[in-house]
Amino acid sequence: MTQQRFKAKRVIVTGAASGIGEATARLFAANGAAVVCADVNVAAARNVAGSLAHAHAVEFDAADAASCKTMIATASQRLGGLDVLCNIAGIMDWDPLPQFTEARWDRMLAINLSSVFHTSRYAMPHLMKSKGNIVVRVPNPTTSTLRPWPAYDMKERATMELGATCTVTHDPRSPRRILLRRILGNS
Ligand SMILES: NC(=O)c1ccc[n+]([C@@H]2O[C@H](COP(=O)([O-])OP(=O)(O)OC[C@H]3O[C@@H](n4cnc5c(N)ncnc54)[C@H](O)[C@@H]3O)[C@@H](O)[C@H]2O)c1
Repeated sequence: MTQQRFKAKRVIVTGAASGIGEATARLFAANGAAVVCADVNVAAARNVAGSLAHAHAVEFDAADAASCKTMIATASQRLGGLDVLCNIAGIMDWDPLPQFTEARWDRMLAINLSSVFHTSRYAMPHLMKSKGNIVVRVPNPTTSTLRPWPAYDMKERATMELGATCTVTHDPRSPRRILLRRILGNS
């Protein structure tokens, strides 16, 4: 099964302790990449990393800009550089607008959206050096139909847009954007 199509690539996957992030980390590792599994749940991230060939776990809190910065620095140092950043860490929280509190809105945006800005920004110098890529998680297609969850659907769309615009600069060394579903092979 192993094609080694990411052989020697140095990859950070946020949210790699479970779900989509874990699946992404496993796929990269199975294809020859060295992977940093970055997650707030470091015990679970260690379990995932420990089951992969070339992987480390790094603890970070996506809600905290300083933690995003430290995570990118630590992970890039451990990997000896960086070729791919996958921003997948996130929370799911939904309710109609009247029930959705300000605190929940702020937390949703900090973890799911602002973290993409912080990690992409701090990863940019490493990715420009390696002519690397930023992987964008594409929203579930059901978000194109109107649902009574403004905060959830807004963060899904905004995360995708931010992931796209993070890679647009006037510098030819700028990282390219890749859609997660192309990596997972279900496009
Ligand atoms: N599951 C789906 O069908 C689906 C569809 C579309 C979008 N999404 C979105 O994708 C993201 C991941 O979904 P999932 O199903 O893999 O969820 P999940 O809960 O299985 O995984 C999310 C991971 O992010 C980590 N995380 C949460 N808060 C964090 C923080 N503050 N700092 C660092 N890491 C943190 C968690 O520990 C966990 O390992 C979510 O934002 C979700 O809304 C999921």
